[in-house]
This record gives sequence, structure tokens and C-alpha cells, in this order.
Amino acid sequence: MDILIKNIKQLVQVREESLKWVAGDDMANLPVLDNAFLYIENGKIADYGSMADLTINTAEEVIDATGRFVFPSFVDSHTHLVFAASREEEFVDKIKGLSYQEIAAKGGGILNSAKKLQATSEDELLERTLKRAWEIIGFGTGAVEIKSGYGLTLEDELKMLKVAKRVGELTPLTVKTTFLGAHAFPKEMSREDYIKLIKDEMIPAVAEQKLAEYIDAFCEQGFFTVEETEDIMEVGKRYGLIPKIHANQLSISGGVQVGVKTGALSVDHLEAMGEAEIKVLQGSEVMPTLLPGAAFYLGTSFPPARDMLNAGLPLALATDYNPGSAPCGKMAFMLSLACIKMKMTPEEAINAATINTAYAMDLSDSHGSITRGKVANVFITKEIPSYSFMPYSFGGDVIEEVVLNGKLVEKH
Ligand code: NIG
Ligand code: FE
Repeated sequence: MDILIKNIKQLVQVREESLKWVAGDDMANLPVLDNAFLYIENGKIADYGSMADLTINTAEEVIDATGRFVFPSFVDSHTHLVFAASREEEFVDKIKGLSYQEIAAKGGGILNSAKKLQATSEDELLERTLKRAWEIIGFGTGAVEIKSGYGLTLEDELKMLKVAKRVGELTPLTVKTTFLGAHAFPKEMSREDYIKLIKDEMIPAVAEQKLAEYIDAFCEQGFFTVEETEDIMEVGKRYGLIPKIHANQLSISGGVQVGVKTGALSVDHLEAMGEAEIKVLQGSEVMPTLLPGAAFYLGTSFPPARDMLNAGLPLALATDYNPGSAPCGKMAFMLSLACIKMKMTPEEAINAATINTAYAMDLSDSHGSITRGKVANVFITKEIPSYSFMPYSFGGDVIEEVVLNGKLVEKH
């Protein structure tokens, strides 16, 4: 199977070599090719170049992209895509003035989602999750990280991870999964007993059944302390799971430091950052990942993206798609929030949502840019004036065609 996309107005994020990430001032540079072609063969990006240099004249599928842009698919490195039901009742509580912590304290929040998920069968959960998976494919996402964390019992955490893995088998999405048993404390157990369950039963079962690549904890006041987070991450590492941590969402929680200390692949959220948090990330291998959908929905402050860029850090951007703090899986809207609320430029935002999120999922060598040999995950826009039009036209729909693993995807 081969596809030739020709007359592309601009081919975006073209990199001759794959890069680990882009950081600091380099994030302002987004390489593009004008009036270009892209040739896809056997699921991979085989070639690209200027139309003037095009020598291939036939392919099974030839797409004329006159006036349109081609991007590498978004990589969404932080989601909670598996959940049983939405939580609009809390949305209304929030409108009336309750905080995220107050809603959680009255039995809402993560425990509310856990109750609903525990009462939902694996098949039903899969069906509901697949709808969201096809939804985000239509939004231009090609690879996604999916967390557990609404099960909170051994059986239900495993159920969530099995559903997440099935999404990778039943859709063209590249899926990586994260065990987030340490998301909240169930009511019916003591703190100590639940941590013991995570360490002695959940982690070994997740590892034995090969259900996750990563391990996460919600390191936050009222949730998991720094010490508990470190302890759980260390046990996870012994079982081959790599840490990725929910850090500094609601307060300066110590989550960033524990992420660096435990060698996390990423620390995510970062709404509450001080100088010490920025400093400790400098020179580390940890990808700071911003989730502006959660800050937007909860009405918290946004992460200090400009300070972090000025400090030379790389930044990644993901949706956090979940029913409680970010009920939106649209990466293009995250670009808009990054530009409008965090003063990132379109170039910085696009780098953050492609190459840098690929790093945050260990996919730098295969995803996140238009590079020969990488997986052919791309989308073609409608006719638009420039790539900046995508974040500018917030909430809009500029994606027309999606190619994943070298095949045109039919809209669901
Ligand atoms: O990333 N902060 C912790 N977890 C999710 C929200 C979970 C929920 O409220 O259901 C987040 O924001
Ligand atoms: Fe999250």
C-alpha cells in the first residue's frame, strides 16, 4: 500500500533526523517545506521533498493537497481515556463555587468515577472508550497514553488497563498505558492498607500481565504525599515500570522533585511552580508536560510556560482527557490554550504537541515528526491560510483527512 500526497501548501515539522526533544529557544523553530510532496509506503514515511523534485508519478492512492497543510499526527502523552461516565453534576457544583478539593471531599471527584467504573463491565467500558478513541483520531491524534486510576481495586485497575490495551488493538492508535492505582484513596480502606495493596498486589499483577509501561501517582495535598509517591515509584521500577507523575497541579507539592529523583520520564500538570521546581528540572531527562485543558476547566492558574522556556527547558502539551478536570480530547484546543493563556507561540505549541510528547511516551524514534522511516501518522488540513490558523481559530475544525500507519482512516 502506498500513498502520494502532492501539492502540499506546507509540510509541517519536517526533520531530517529524529530528535530526542526540542528545548528552550529551539522550540521557536518549526521547520516546514513549501509546495511539497509526501510519499508513504508500507506504513512508513518513505520520502518527502519539494514538488519540483518529485519523481514518483503513481501510487495506489494519490491525494492532491492543494491549499492544504500536512502535519505529523499529534501525540497525546497524558490521558485518562478509560472512564465509565461523564460528571456534569460536578460541573454545576463548580459553577456554583465549590473547589476541586471540596467536590472530592463530598464524594465526588475520582471516587465518584471509581464507583461508576466498578459497576461497569469490561465490554461496556471498552465500547464507551472506543467512542472516545475514534473521536480523538478525528481530532488528529495518532498516539496516546492511557492511564488507569478509576478502578482502585485490583480487579478494576486491571480491567481498565485491559480496556486501554484493547484500544491499541482495535483502532489504529499507538497506545501506551500507565498504572495509576495511586490516584485516590478508596473510602473503605486505611491509607496504609491501600498503599500495601498497590505495592504487594497491584504492581506485581500489572507487571506480570504486561498491562502497563509506566507508573503514575497523584502527588498532591489530600492525595499521595511525596514519601508515598517515592515509595510506590521505587516498587514500580523494580517491576520494570517507568515513573510519570501527576505533579504540582493544585499546590507546590514536591511532585517535581520526586519525579526527578525517581528518574521519571515526565512530570505532568505543573500549574504550581516555583524557582526551585524549574531549577531541579534543568539538566534532567524529565519532560515537563503541561495540561492546559485542566487549568482552563478548573479555573486554576496556568503553568508558567515562558519562565520554563526561558530557563531552557523542553515543554510538552497533552490533553489530560478525563471526566473530572479536562473533559476534552482535542489537541488543537490545547494548542490554542498554550498560545492564548501561556503565551507560547504556535511554533512552540506544535513542537510541544508532537516531538516533545513523543519523547514523553518513548516514541521519539518513530513518531512526532515528518522524518523518513517514521510511522506514517499524519493529518491533512482543510484549506487554511497558515499553520498558525489552527491555534488561532480556537475550537474550530481544521482537520480534513487522517492517515495512520500509512492508511487513510475512515471517519467514525
Ligand atoms: O489529571 N489530578 C488528578 N487526576 C486527573 C483528574 C481526575 C478526576 O478528577 O477525575 C487530572 O486532572
Ligand atoms: Fe491526569
